[in-house]
Amino acid sequence: MGRLQDRVAVITGAASGIGAACAVRFAAEGASIAALDVAKPPDDLWSEIDASAPGTLFQEVDVRDEPSVEAAVAATRERFGRIDVLVNAAGVVGFGMAHTLEVEEFDRVLDINLKGSFLTAKHVIPAMLEQGSGSIVHVASVEGLVGIGGQLAYNASKGGVVLMTKNMAIDYSPAGVRVNCICPGGVETPMTAMLNQEGLKAVGEKLRKFHLLERFAKPSEIAAATLFLASDDASFVTGTSLVVDGGYTAGHRIVLD
Ligand SMILES: NC(=O)c1ccc[n+]([C@@H]2O[C@H](COP(=O)([O-])OP(=O)(O)OC[C@H]3O[C@@H](n4cnc5c(N)ncnc54)[C@H](O)[C@@H]3O)[C@@H](O)[C@H]2O)c1
Repeated sequence: MGRLQDRVAVITGAASGIGAACAVRFAAEGASIAALDVAKPPDDLWSEIDASAPGTLFQEVDVRDEPSVEAAVAATRERFGRIDVLVNAAGVVGFGMAHTLEVEEFDRVLDINLKGSFLTAKHVIPAMLEQGSGSIVHVASVEGLVGIGGQLAYNASKGGVVLMTKNMAIDYSPAGVRVNCICPGGVETPMTAMLNQEGLKAVGEKLRKFHLLERFAKPSEIAAATLFLASDDASFVTGTSLVVDGGYTAGHRIVLD
């Protein structure tokens, strides 16, 4: 029996990276998957899931657009009858310091990373309240806990997600709904692929070395930790920020040459 047997999981950002890895892992653990993304998943992405099975529903949705989110959640309830898990993995990175950042770029990053996670929760929570149970996992970042230069909007959005998590945990724990977030360090996904390009390779190498394990995570490693929070294994866990960062935030190893 899977750890999410007969559960229904809404996963945003499921067409790529961490969200896609969650879709594959959660399906393997017995969940029906409602995948929401602005991008269509590549045909072979969920090769481990039978996309034609009744347990999988993909909907093209921009998480910034409330009517689309509301309609997607309604379609999910119509198809599966309930929603047990919400994973908010849709997100974008953004660069710029306070004096160089255009307001439009600030808004884009905040709208997708923070407001989008609020909007999906807003429309999924009523189903969880009716059921008297549910588990929400926001994908934040270590950059919601510590700063990184040149990424003001990203830092602000992820810091907001960490606090929004605590707020929702307080508001919904009496109703049996747990709310947590996960704070990954670097993960090998299309979001970080730019660090493999000529010219940025040295930056990528340096960033990987900031992790005590001297590498980025595989998406499946983040999906495994997300599964823990989503499942009954975490039945006494709410309001937490689970750091899965290969030691990025633990401190520094001082090496004397
Ligand atoms: N990759 C990393 O190093 C890393 C580290 C920490 C946290 N994260 C966070 O994990 C989450 C997933 O990132 P990833 O690395 O898998 O990136 P990714 O680029 O591989 O996947 C992000 C997905 O979000 C979707 N998306 C973007 N904007 C959207 C919108 N408006 N509406 C709906 N879907 C939208 C994209 O189409 C894409 O499929 C993000 O929130 C990211 O900030 C990533």
